[in-house]
Amino acid sequence: MRSLPRPLFLLTLCLLSCDSADPAVKEPAPPPYTALRDVAPFPVGVAMQARHTSSQNHAELVGRVFNSITAEYEMKMVPLSTGRGSYAWPAVEALVEFADQHDMQIHGHALVWHQITPAWLENFGGTDEEFEEAVEEYITDVVTRYKGIVRSWDVVNEAFEDGSGALRNSVFRRRMGDNYIERLFAYARAADPEALLFYNDYGTLWDANKRRAQLTLVDRLKVAPAGIDGVGLQTHITYTFPTLGNITSVMDQIVERGLLVHLSELDVRVNPDGDLQALTDQRSEEQKQRVRSVVHAFMALPAENRYAITLWGIRDPESWLIDFWGNPEWPLLFDEDFNPKPAYHGFLEAVQ
Ligand code: XIL
Repeated sequence: MRSLPRPLFLLTLCLLSCDSADPAVKEPAPPPYTALRDVAPFPVGVAMQARHTSSQNHAELVGRVFNSITAEYEMKMVPLSTGRGSYAWPAVEALVEFADQHDMQIHGHALVWHQITPAWLENFGGTDEEFEEAVEEYITDVVTRYKGIVRSWDVVNEAFEDGSGALRNSVFRRRMGDNYIERLFAYARAADPEALLFYNDYGTLWDANKRRAQLTLVDRLKVAPAGIDGVGLQTHITYTFPTLGNITSVMDQIVERGLLVHLSELDVRVNPDGDLQALTDQRSEEQKQRVRSVVHAFMALPAENRYAITLWGIRDPESWLIDFWGNPEWPLLFDEDFNPKPAYHGFLEAVQ
């Protein structure tokens, strides 16, 4: 192509790109890919940390692509509860404000999780009755503060043992008895009757005893006065495990019970055997197919049972799985440079 004389070239450039209005108020360019929140017929969430709200790259990406957030850490009991009746709200406030500014819903995670119980409660000196009062007070304070703001809560996280499916012998069970979960749901329901209440766990997809134990709990909760609205399947899966059939059949069992399904912590490991030092095109493609088929299976559920799909992290290098398993890992939808991976497009293809 012949090049234009320089003045003409500049004029053409200006006509193509200069805005006649004040350039300072120009809208930011839209991302060069479709945002999941614009096309998915259900909320698409991401686990976010409060510090990401003030990192421009993270904040822009999350605000454009997702329409739901879960606090990756800050709404758990240890960071939030600094003593009986005392709370570290600022990090939660930052996430709440971010969600509000970007028109996103908030999923609260998690009111009670045995792994992250503060010392003051774990070593509580009073009677069992007083222990329960302290737990009720915590749930009431937190849920009431975010009434009408946090749309849904994981009331209890990971209450069952792997393999046996036995109820974990947590301090909550030891001090409140075997029916403690029903009572925790009742406290949350009383604090915000409109909030949707979930039981959340991992292993449901591949551990038959654990699945049975959870579904038995869910059936009990369903007939208890406080009820239950949905089940969170953490969905920390790999590119080959578990089978799609497993995933589909568990989702179906939740739907049969008339409850909401939340794929609450989706990430897809591509290096479970530690054979990769860098992500290969082939593994990336396999991850894409995997994400596409899981999202596709979710899409096949009745619309009224699809609560949301939440990714457990924004970009690969921040995934909790790297420390947890000790292998290089690339389990999320965005790479280190904030670019969407093939897996992102797999998600998009399944919802479009
Ligand atoms: C993890 C977070 O990703 C980490 O940042 C944190 O230190 C520990 O918890 N199941 C859950 C999540 O329900 O809360 C966990 O998140 C991952 C496993």
